[in-house]
Amino acid sequence: MPKTLIEPFRIKSVEPIRMTTRTERETLLEAAKLNVFKLRAEDVLIDWLTDSGTGAMSSAQWAAIMIGDESYAGARSFFRLEAVLQDITGMSHFIPTHQGRAAEKVLFTAVCKKGDLVPNNCHFDTTRANLEFNGVEAVDLVIPEGLQPSLIHPFKGNIDLARVEEILKKEGHRIPFGMITVTNNTGGGQPVSMASIRAYAQLLKQYGKPFIMDVCRFAENAMFIKLREDGYQNTGIKAICQEMFSYADGCTMSAKKDGMVNIGGFIMLRSDEWLDPVRNMLILTEGFPTYGGLAGRDLEALAVGMEEGMDESYLRYRLRTAEYLGEKLEAAGVGFVKPTGGHAVYIDAKTVLPDMPVEQYPACSLCNALYLEGGIRGVEIGSVMFGRRLEDGTETYHSMELVRLAFPRRMYTQSHFDYAAEVIAEVKINARSIRGVKLIKQPKFLRHFTCECAWA
Ligand code: F0G
Repeated sequence: MPKTLIEPFRIKSVEPIRMTTRTERETLLEAAKLNVFKLRAEDVLIDWLTDSGTGAMSSAQWAAIMIGDESYAGARSFFRLEAVLQDITGMSHFIPTHQGRAAEKVLFTAVCKKGDLVPNNCHFDTTRANLEFNGVEAVDLVIPEGLQPSLIHPFKGNIDLARVEEILKKEGHRIPFGMITVTNNTGGGQPVSMASIRAYAQLLKQYGKPFIMDVCRFAENAMFIKLREDGYQNTGIKAICQEMFSYADGCTMSAKKDGMVNIGGFIMLRSDEWLDPVRNMLILTEGFPTYGGLAGRDLEALAVGMEEGMDESYLRYRLRTAEYLGEKLEAAGVGFVKPTGGHAVYIDAKTVLPDMPVEQYPACSLCNALYLEGGIRGVEIGSVMFGRRLEDGTETYHSMELVRLAFPRRMYTQSHFDYAAEVIAEVKINARSIRGVKLIKQPKFLRHFTCECAWA
């Protein structure tokens, strides 16, 4: 068998991307106040800002879009997707939302109260923000290995069960449910093992607490289980997914990831205990229960996408793509979160810019350098995102300075990855010429999206 793992699809519809000159990019980046979020997408050659809602749909999904039932109530498309989700999750109640954070908002507002506490491996930032907005404390309890970028461990997304038990004992009265995020996006896209999910579920059950999973990347997590966990080598992806879901009482999903669609999300619930308050909140903020925040055609595309996202040859290629870029970075002496995750590679900017003081935001500076060198857009996960400017004008900084390159699904081919690897290697060779940045204007919340910078 040839060793090359090919893209398991062929291309039916194409979208041109535009090469710019370095001089043009310098002008464009300065006009964007040295913040790649402010660039126009058409000025980006390879857009790896996020894997969320950016992927390519299949011909089967586009075909399904044409048969979307746009009835306000009781649309056929709702029942089609409901049947698909009931089959995968084993849960009865399907609540459609327009994206993941809407699912979070609806669920948390309906079932949490001020003063509550929710444990998770790592909360994604919208999950944390939606909890905190409701006065709930969001506690991250990932295993210690999950916080060390260069340490190799097969399941760095696992939750630290001893610390979970401690918090259940001490703060149990404040905990409405426990959560886990698969894969662990903020911790490097790292998977959670079936053993960890099972044990966490049992622990929560012992304390009478429901178990909610954030399942944006459920299929990538299942593929990691198949590849890395004993006993699953001969199990199909769908069966692994079904087992993962079997331990949970409910889930929130951004379908923009493993749902293979450009927009969509949902909540699934096993029992009807929370159904009335959740549906009421849905009607108040998203829409009627049989469409939520979506059009009938979106429900159809998702019904197809959910199954396509679990295709083993696709998942094998997807995980291998991240690993492939990782191997090239390793050869170029560029550090990254190891092993590579499912949807992204997280470059450790401190290994490229060891001498740049954190006050000059190394990850943000590296992000800018990747754009200037080759038109690549990643996202800074460092002190611009997680640092804070305090009342007295001083700054707090984040422990890690990462640049996430997140891969839209079925969109870029191997030559795009080869090109990116060359660009990154070149940036590393010329690292001494990379200029740091300073923040000149920032909003109070989520400053990375809109802040303005200048050269330091
Ligand atoms: N949970 C996780 C683990 C996520 O990664 C995201 C989104 C959400 C919830 C929220 O879903 O965007 O549909 O509202 N992550 C994107 C990213 C934005 O770039 O990682 P959403």
